[in-house]
Amino acid sequence: MPLRIAVLISGGGSTLANLICRIDDGRLRDVTIGLVVSSGSAVPGVGIAREAGLALKIVHTKDSRTGPSFSARITELVDEADVSLVVLAGFLHLWRFPARYAGRVLNIHPALLPAFGGRGMFGRRVHEAVLAAGAGESGCTVHIANLEYDQGPIVARARVALRPDDTVATLAERVQAAERELYPEVIQRVAEHGLEWLRERGAASADA
Ligand code: GAR
Repeated sequence: MPLRIAVLISGGGSTLANLICRIDDGRLRDVTIGLVVSSGSAVPGVGIAREAGLALKIVHTKDSRTGPSFSARITELVDEADVSLVVLAGFLHLWRFPARYAGRVLNIHPALLPAFGGRGMFGRRVHEAVLAAGAGESGCTVHIANLEYDQGPIVARARVALRPDDTVATLAERVQAAERELYPEVIQRVAEHGLEWLRERGAASADA
């Protein structure tokens, strides 16, 4: 049985596009995207999901005034899609998921967590902060998400050395190249070894 995943996006969709590409070319095996949830309707990621013929749902934060809360709506959709793993892919909100999803939600962050993470730290802001701090290296982190921004057990990190002439754009480009390798690698491991592998990796990093 392939690992059935939901992918949550907010904008660019480049993380989603990479997963689609890797599934299509066979580098990501035994994984199927059962649902894409987007928190924006006019974002490139929506076009990418549509073009790939994926099931797509749009959830607006403002809808929560009239219907179920934002998080409750996402939970409903993910439940209906009957997925084993939820992959946050540039998703910029906090999904307050119920306990049954604990250990089954992954996030990728464009820095070496626990540094340079937290609410409001996303996209170019992260790289600006890394450069302003004069850090010698950056990278990306895949972690099991919990109910706080960019926290939760670390599963894998990839390092990117900084160069003296780095700008936000050049650093972002190398970090994103690292992300394009690391996220599919982790998802592939889950497809091969199950959620138990994820829990073990998370537990090992917490002990380290
Ligand atoms: C990625 O670089 C990802 O690491 C980052 O947003 C980008 C998503 O791009 N995520 C965060 O900063 C989360 N705190 P995309 O929307 O084109 O997939």
